[in-house]
Amino acid sequence: MEEKLRLQKYLAMANVASRRASEAIILEGRVKVNGCVVTELGTKVSANDKVEVDGELVFIAKKKYYIMLNKPSGYVTTASDEMGRKTVLDLISDINDRVYPIGRLDKDTEGLLLLTNDGDFAYEVAHPKHNVEKVYHAFVSGVPGKIALSKLEKGVIIDGIKTKSAYVDVLEVGKNSSVVEIKIHEGRNRQVRKMFEAVGHKVIALQRVAVGKISLGNLPIGKWRHLTEAEIKILKS
Ligand code: URA
Repeated sequence: MEEKLRLQKYLAMANVASRRASEAIILEGRVKVNGCVVTELGTKVSANDKVEVDGELVFIAKKKYYIMLNKPSGYVTTASDEMGRKTVLDLISDINDRVYPIGRLDKDTEGLLLLTNDGDFAYEVAHPKHNVEKVYHAFVSGVPGKIALSKLEKGVIIDGIKTKSAYVDVLEVGKNSSVVEIKIHEGRNRQVRKMFEAVGHKVIALQRVAVGKISLGNLPIGKWRHLTEAEIKILKS
């Protein structure tokens, strides 16, 4: 149910004036609720009510949430799924508003996913003009050699368009597989998987470990946390 507040508290939370001063404003007949002047101090209002002071609409700013999730494989990054599959929002609890993912990760990709209810922030972080770097660890078949690595760095054609320059580094070498770090500045559909495919290596598992200067760190898989003030500031700059 929608939370109801006493009008003077509502005005104080909307930064109109202190609670005491708001009481005076109400008694002076300067406040309207849903178009009617209200002078009763005990009147209760909720976010659904239209509250005006001296004819100006006033409202309580919504709390903004900035979250990082370590997405497990098997969850889709959409807010709801017509096919009833598990979504990343199933993993977010205790948040009093609807948050949504910034960008996407494939169902089978793990790792760092940012979520927010701040539309401007989401737009800025996701916008290609900001070139925000995304860092992935790709567990791939075989071991890419010098030529493949150089192609990945310079750009390969996927879906008819060349990828922008990337940075790659082989982190681990196994008998028939390897782990390669790849840093890209785009967010095309299944980009990392398609890039490796283009040089003859299948991505077996994929994890995003960083977005810009924000790293996943040791956040356990399936868990989320609030971003720190410093992290939010970095992303906003
Ligand atoms: N590239 C991919 O192929 N998949 C992702 O989920 C993210 C980047």
